[in-house]
Amino acid sequence: MNNARPCIGLIGCGAIASEIVGALGSGIVDADLVVMMDIYPEKCEKLKERLGKEVPITTSLKEFLEHSMDYVIEAASQEAVRQYGEEILSHGINLVILSVGALLDDELREKLVATAKKTGAKIYAPTGAIAGLDAVRALRTVGIDRVVLRTIKPPRSLGIEAKERKVLYHGPAREAVKRFPFNVNVAAALSLAAGKEAEVEVIVDPSVERNTHIILVESKASRIEIRVENVPSKTNPRTSWLAALSVIELLRRITSTDPLIIGS
Ligand SMILES: NC(=O)c1ccc[n+]([C@@H]2O[C@H](COP(=O)([O-])OP(=O)(O)OC[C@H]3O[C@@H](n4cnc5c(N)ncnc54)[C@H](O)[C@@H]3O)[C@@H](O)[C@H]2O)c1
Repeated sequence: MNNARPCIGLIGCGAIASEIVGALGSGIVDADLVVMMDIYPEKCEKLKERLGKEVPITTSLKEFLEHSMDYVIEAASQEAVRQYGEEILSHGINLVILSVGALLDDELREKLVATAKKTGAKIYAPTGAIAGLDAVRALRTVGIDRVVLRTIKPPRSLGIEAKERKVLYHGPAREAVKRFPFNVNVAAALSLAAGKEAEVEVIVDPSVERNTHIILVESKASRIEIRVENVPSKTNPRTSWLAALSVIELLRRITSTDPLIIGS
């Protein structure tokens, strides 16, 4: 990589991509978008209009990779990570994966990491709709005894009726994400940061307004309890606003030339 502005390619032109394009357009992320890809190219056309700049659009990975890039952002689907991840990393291009849930698949994750090691590329998974993964990673050094993700949602967010608070699920993350796919990215990010599978609890509670995540971590160095109460994103009510902001912050940080770095 040279000192020129970083070049970014975007796969998936939906809700999260629209926030990312907004941050690129306003200069919050100081990088150039050089190519966009989606199975529905018209989705990319909309984002191009929003950016107000000419950006090539494609539906083919081969054409996508003809552009020189420092980072590819996957904002598409777990399937997209399976389809394109290895090829992108084998070109030595850093990959930001938003569909973090794909990384709970050990075989896929190990394959991607092995390819990245060979080429020197990096794989980034944003914190998303939670907080505190820096401390969770720090505690891994001394060992983590227990890591829990407790998600509390109002009945309408779960599409069910409930008159009182009720635990809908308590068990391992891998099983939880099959039954509650909305939790997949945060459960995966937390488990990967902790180096052990998180316990997941899903609770419906008519007294809460916001989608709430409580992270509990027990280790001999610290006991951590973090509560995050999320407001939905303006463009996609299924996504927390914080998740989009978290991705933008990750991009800002990895593309920034600012020598002062706060937080680990
Ligand atoms: N890490 C996080 O914090 C976080 C938060 C929210 C969403 N997500 C994940 O990010 C991804 C994008 O979320 P979104 O809300 O923007 O979704 P979205 O449905 O609004 O947009 C996804 C876009 O990707 C395209 N797409 C899907 N599969 C593709 C493929 N194989 N090849 C090319 N294009 C493909 C779709 O056509 C669509 O335009 C999802 O997997 C979602 O689970 C992650």
